[in-house]
Amino acid sequence: MDFIAKPAGVGHVRLRVPGDKSVSHRSIMLGSLATGTTRVSGFLPGDDCLATLRAFRDMGVQIEEHDATTLTIHGVGLDGLQAPPGPLDLGNSGTGMRLMAGVLAGQAFDTELVGDESLSGRPMARIINPLTEMGAAIESDCDGTPPLQISGGVRLRSIDYVLPMASAQVKSCVLLAGMYADGTTSVTEPDVTRDHTERMLRTMGAEIASEGRQIAITGRPTLTGCNIEVPGDLSSAAFVMLAAALADDADVLIENVGINPTRTGVIDILRGMGANIELERVRKLGEEPVADIRVQSSRLVGGTVDPALVSLAIDEFPVLFVAAAAADGETVFSGIGELRVKESDRIAAMATGLRSLGIRVDESDDGAVVHGGRFAGGEVDSFHDHRIAMSLSIAGTVADGPVRVRGVDNVATSFPGFVELLESAGASIGVEAAA
Ligand code: S3P
Repeated sequence: MDFIAKPAGVGHVRLRVPGDKSVSHRSIMLGSLATGTTRVSGFLPGDDCLATLRAFRDMGVQIEEHDATTLTIHGVGLDGLQAPPGPLDLGNSGTGMRLMAGVLAGQAFDTELVGDESLSGRPMARIINPLTEMGAAIESDCDGTPPLQISGGVRLRSIDYVLPMASAQVKSCVLLAGMYADGTTSVTEPDVTRDHTERMLRTMGAEIASEGRQIAITGRPTLTGCNIEVPGDLSSAAFVMLAAALADDADVLIENVGINPTRTGVIDILRGMGANIELERVRKLGEEPVADIRVQSSRLVGGTVDPALVSLAIDEFPVLFVAAAAADGETVFSGIGELRVKESDRIAAMATGLRSLGIRVDESDDGAVVHGGRFAGGEVDSFHDHRIAMSLSIAGTVADGPVRVRGVDNVATSFPGFVELLESAGASIGVEAAA
């Protein structure tokens, strides 16, 4: 499938984006490992989270879907999972695979984790190394990529692990494996990353201690099921936010969006570029802070993006590249090398896409300089990456002509209903069979 984005900006609207992907994954995993029931509302029915849901069902967990976003999970307790009938397919999801590997390293049975073409090329040594230090037995392809074969029946040791890169997935993987180890397992991060795992574990009764950048979990916790209200995903809201900032006459209120401080880098960066963004009705939804985000038409200016914000905005760089391309002057991104091992090489994918639309981008190993200008119409490739597809279609809403974005099927992994929502806000994004 392709998107055809035509120049038409969003207007004056109030809307909601789908549930947070990170929180939705964790609700299934921890709800399954808790005792008692966990009720989830606002769940993201995206392909990534549905793959996690299917994997836990395959391991014997009963999960009722009352509607697409409302679930009841009948937890089986830390040791209640059963051997699945075959390999667990995590689709496109790095989060699904890396977090589940932590859980599965502590089980009594063997498992195999597989994924789609993109996931099958993503680095897993980053989780295999700490899990192996804990005593786990995991095999991957020789280049450290999936499939992963995880042998069960091993006794995990607690470790103190210093993360070589800022990654909430690796941090969470080690903490989840730490639940199956005796004693206290700790991770120390080089930069703060999203802390949804820690918050949810704490809510369910695990002992989690945080001191500076070190987080420690006491092994063998008893998790108790709870109610989880999943906030709207700020990473999805970011596309709408930029569409509003770039439009001629926009005033968009995005209701009920998660503003966990480990995720709000995109708000800080866009505000630093001049975007009119206000947070209204700031409140808490369980453990997670939320707000209504109001964005109005803005004039963006380039600048140097603070590398300290990178881990707090890690998924938003594709859309921030579009912001930079639409801004006056140059924008300098640095310290973003992790983008090269996401669902695609996001630095290369965005540089290629923006260049096709007439924007100058100078790329380096772990950064880029984007020279602001006007988007010409044209054809661009999403590299089968959901966030590249959505980012380039936002560029199309303010381009001089239509923009065809090729290969957008994976948008459903994180943002089902993207096109319908943007269209309801006044944009013009059509869907066509691949040309
Ligand atoms: C995620 C962590 C991030 C992010 C991904 C979701 C999570 O990955 O890119 O979309 O839910 O833990 P890294 O932690 O590998 O940077």
